Amino acid sequence: MQYNFDEMVQRRNTYSLKWDGEELIKEIGYTERYDHETIPLFTADMDLPVPQPLIEALHKTVDHRIFGYSIFPNEYFEAIQHWFKKRHNWTINKDEIVYSPGTVHALNIAVKALTKRGEGIIIQRPVYPPFTAAIEGNGRIVRNNAMIRNSDGYYTIDFEDFEAKAQEENTKMFVLCNPHNPTGRIFTNEELKRLSDICEKNNVIVIADEIHGDLIRKNQTFTPLAKIVSDTDHIITCTAINKTFNVAGLHCTNVIISNPEMRNSFREKMGMQLPSPFTISALIAVYNDGEEWLDQLTQYIDDTMDYVKSFLAEKLPTVKVTIPEGTYVMWMDFNGYGLSAQEIHHRIYNKANVLLEDGDLFGKEGEGYQRICIPSPRPLIQEALERIAKEFQDIETNNRLER
Ligand SMILES: Cc1ncc(COP(=O)(O)O)c(C=O)c1O
Repeated sequence: MQYNFDEMVQRRNTYSLKWDGEELIKEIGYTERYDHETIPLFTADMDLPVPQPLIEALHKTVDHRIFGYSIFPNEYFEAIQHWFKKRHNWTINKDEIVYSPGTVHALNIAVKALTKRGEGIIIQRPVYPPFTAAIEGNGRIVRNNAMIRNSDGYYTIDFEDFEAKAQEENTKMFVLCNPHNPTGRIFTNEELKRLSDICEKNNVIVIADEIHGDLIRKNQTFTPLAKIVSDTDHIITCTAINKTFNVAGLHCTNVIISNPEMRNSFREKMGMQLPSPFTISALIAVYNDGEEWLDQLTQYIDDTMDYVKSFLAEKLPTVKVTIPEGTYVMWMDFNGYGLSAQEIHHRIYNKANVLLEDGDLFGKEGEGYQRICIPSPRPLIQEALERIAKEFQDIETNNRLER
């Protein structure tokens, strides 16, 4: 079937964090202004309808009329195996799959189960902020292997620094984000192999957060880390349907742990986690029948990214952006204006009334950047960009006159 992603589905008054979360959003300090005119493009959550087979599967579950304690049927594991084999040629054994109600939850469990207070965990900033929270919130120490950005806005890994950090005596874990949020990098097989080898050599466990792995540009490929290394004993992979199929509210992450000792420790720390019947039917539906939708979605996101890039080139040429290899976020560099991070924030959040994510939330490397989530109907993205452009026109006009 043909999906119409330009359609704006009304999300206010649906318990949406993005659209109804005014109080919480203000409380956590994302913005001072939030009202019925705000365009929220901050959290990684799509404003696009989900695949039709998913809707039908959920209707069927509702129609049953009883929603008791549930257990995973074989079809659940088979659907996961089928998806990763077909999309990524990755073979997953059923007994390696551990359910978690969320990826951030799984990360916290892994940190608690497999490291001790005071031990070091490597992350690569600028990076998804809950990584820092999972480390510091559990009394562990962040070892930041900052990404290197070249003049074209392309990010690479500082391997020398990574190795030095992995060799530090109390470094026990590395949280890999691939595709990388917010820079959009998909690491190459060579990069992944090198990271994994360094970790293996230094007894550092890798938590590979690969939940953006199905959201990649049409001309890109994504390879799961565990697929390309011969020994996966030091690797834990987080996969999820939440980002790919826009079902964050259905709480479904699957953690792949091949090392039985690590798997037992992880399971023990997590305790019993029974799934919702909606989660089970959702996963089976999207992994078995969601491909057609995903292909259309990928095209829509690619086109929106092209649109954003050409809009900025025309109306806000001072803002630098590159099309990311993966993820549906774009990382926009506003530093060319020479304004403080506060002034950039003020113009976008208070004056334009668009809610993005301030780059410094991802680490000091993100200062002067803004992250925008773009899987919304294109007319909404257009309006947000027009509003932002208006607030920077004074400087753009001056810049043009000076050129
Ligand atoms: C890299 C990454 N990991 C984890 C999450 C959150 O996943 P979950 O909702 O399953 O905790 C996000 C959400 O944006 C993310 O970008």
